[in-house]
Amino acid sequence: MAGPGRKVHMSTQSGNGARKVSVRDLREMKRRGEKIAVLTAYDFLFARVVDRAGVEVVLVGDSLGQVVLGLESTLPVTLDDMIHHARAVRRGVERALLVVDLPFLTYHVSREDTLRNAGRVMREAQANAVKLEGGSPETAEMVRALVDAGIPVMGHLGFTPQSVNVTGARVQGKGDQARERMLGDARRLEEAGAFSVVLELVPRALAEEITAALTIPTIGIGAGPGCDGQVLVLHDMLGINTEFRPRFLRRFAEIGDAAAAGVDSFVRAVKGGEYPAAEHTFE
Ligand code: KIV
Repeated sequence: MAGPGRKVHMSTQSGNGARKVSVRDLREMKRRGEKIAVLTAYDFLFARVVDRAGVEVVLVGDSLGQVVLGLESTLPVTLDDMIHHARAVRRGVERALLVVDLPFLTYHVSREDTLRNAGRVMREAQANAVKLEGGSPETAEMVRALVDAGIPVMGHLGFTPQSVNVTGARVQGKGDQARERMLGDARRLEEAGAFSVVLELVPRALAEEITAALTIPTIGIGAGPGCDGQVLVLHDMLGINTEFRPRFLRRFAEIGDAAAAGVDSFVRAVKGGEYPAAEHTFE
């Protein structure tokens, strides 16, 4: 129990001695004009690769619906799916801040339901924060309730994939009214206590305006270079998801092609009797 004369033990160092990233560090990075790197991960080994590369935030995104589970959208992803993958990612992340998406309809029904669901993510996956979509007054109320309960929240504005059936998958915030609305939503999230906001598919000028208006960092995806940081879906930026080529995406590797070539060689080697060879065999 915490109290006078008793130390609260909360490690700020990772296993390899590096200092763990906190939500305060991200705000400080914005203040210093240092860019924040964020990537998604959904399993242990990739989480370790991403963490060791030095990203500040590892996001277990509900994009796992498409890139891991083969679903058409994020909507069918469940809280149990998120926790299952986040637990694996947790084991691979030592330094970065671990943020986990709250999936569709897990933070809308009531304050109690939202707290219970986010609490499960924090307790069962040992996440450091949750992310949720939208910036309406109702959503901001949930953000405030979570922050009051000690759960850091990352917001998500612009194209919010859980609302794809309402908005379509397109650039948001075009036109004066939409621009004002997004700016207001961003301010509302900051006031409610969010520590950061993802801006997805937002025109460059609006992303810059929001970034300048907030003291918390903005993390862009398809929002231009003016945000405080950038996030990409790991399977997209590594070229594992070979069919997805939106304009904003840069591929930093072609793992999908390399994997296909490797598997092809294996099949040919087995069928041609070249594998296993003597060096792979126990006499
Ligand atoms: O689910 C996800 O991966 C995300 C990122 C695209 C920001 O929300």
